[in-house]
Amino acid sequence: MKGNHQFDTLVASILAISLALAFIIFLVALLRILKARGMGYGITKDDVVSHGLTVLLEEMKTLKDQLLLKERLAALGEISAAIIHQIRNPLSVIAGYAKLLIKSFDENDHRARYLEAILTEIQSINQVMEGLIELSKSSHLNKEPLELFSLIKEIVSEMDLKGSQVVLEPFEAKTLGDRMLIKQAIKNLIQNATEMADKVAIRAIKEDSQDLTSIEIRDNGPGIPLEEREKVFLPFYSRKPGGTGVGLTLSQKIIYSHNGSIEVRDAEEGGTSFVIKLPRY
Ligand SMILES: Nc1ncnc2c1ncn2[C@@H]1O[C@H](COP(=O)(O)OP(=O)(O)OP(=O)(O)O)[C@@H](O)[C@H]1O
Ligand SMILES: [Mg+2]
Repeated sequence: MKGNHQFDTLVASILAISLALAFIIFLVALLRILKARGMGYGITKDDVVSHGLTVLLEEMKTLKDQLLLKERLAALGEISAAIIHQIRNPLSVIAGYAKLLIKSFDENDHRARYLEAILTEIQSINQVMEGLIELSKSSHLNKEPLELFSLIKEIVSEMDLKGSQVVLEPFEAKTLGDRMLIKQAIKNLIQNATEMADKVAIRAIKEDSQDLTSIEIRDNGPGIPLEEREKVFLPFYSRKPGGTGVGLTLSQKIIYSHNGSIEVRDAEEGGTSFVIKLPRY
C-alpha cells in the first residue's frame, strides 16, 4: 500500500513537471506567433523561459522534499510502532512504583526529589513517544474553508506566550484545510518563536504565486544559522533543553498534506522568519 502511494506521488510529480515543461514550450510558441503579428509587448523568449524555469525548479524542490519526508516518516512509523509497543508497559510500571515510593518519604527528603526526577524523565520519554505516534500517523483531512487571520487570532489567544509580545497584522486570506491540523501546524511555529524571542510578528506577505497565500511568522530571536536550516525539519532535531524536535516535522507534514510549503529565512532585522504557503480558497 505504502509503496503504491509513493509510486502514485512520483507519477503525479513527473506528470506535473512534464505539464509545466509543455506549458513553457506552448508559451514560447505563442510568443513567437504574437511577435510575428507585432504584438510581442516587449516580452522576450528568455523572460518566458527563465520565469517558467524558476517556477518549475521551485515546484520540483517542493515535490522532492515531500517525497523524502513521506519516505522518512513511513520508515520511522514502522520502527517506532514496534519500539513503542515494547517500551510503554515497562515504563508505566516504573512510573507506578516511583509514585508509590514517593508516598513513603517525607516531602523534604532528598530521595523523594530523586523519584520526582525519575517521573519527570519518564514524562519526557512519553512525550517523545507521543510525538513519534503523531508523526507516523497518516491523518485523514477533514477539510473546510478556513479564514486564516481569525484562526491565527484564536491560536494566539489560546497560547501561553511566555511573556512574548505577539503582533498580528490583519489580512484577508482563506484556505481549504483541516481546522485542527492547520491550527497545530501554525501553533508549533508561534510556540517556537515565543520560546526564542520576546517579539513575534505575524502577517501575510506578497509573493509571486497567485494561487497561494503566504504567511510569515517572524521573530527577533537569535536566528537559525544557515547550516542548520535544513536540519530543523528533521524528526527529533532539537537544540532546546527538553525539546523533542517533533514540532517542525509535524508542521511540515501538515502543510505538505495541504499542498502547501514551509520554509525558513532570515528575518530582515535579525531573528528568524518562517513562511508558510497555503492554497487560496
Ligand atoms: N523561531 C526559531 N528561532 C530559533 N531557532 C528555532 C526557531 N524555531 C525552531 N528553531 C530551532 O529548530 C529546532 C527544532 O524545532 P522543533 O519545533 O521541531 O523542536 P523543538 O521546539 O526543539 O521541540 P518540540 O518538539 O517540543 O517543538 C529547535 O530546537 C530550535 O533549535
Ligand atoms: Mg518546537
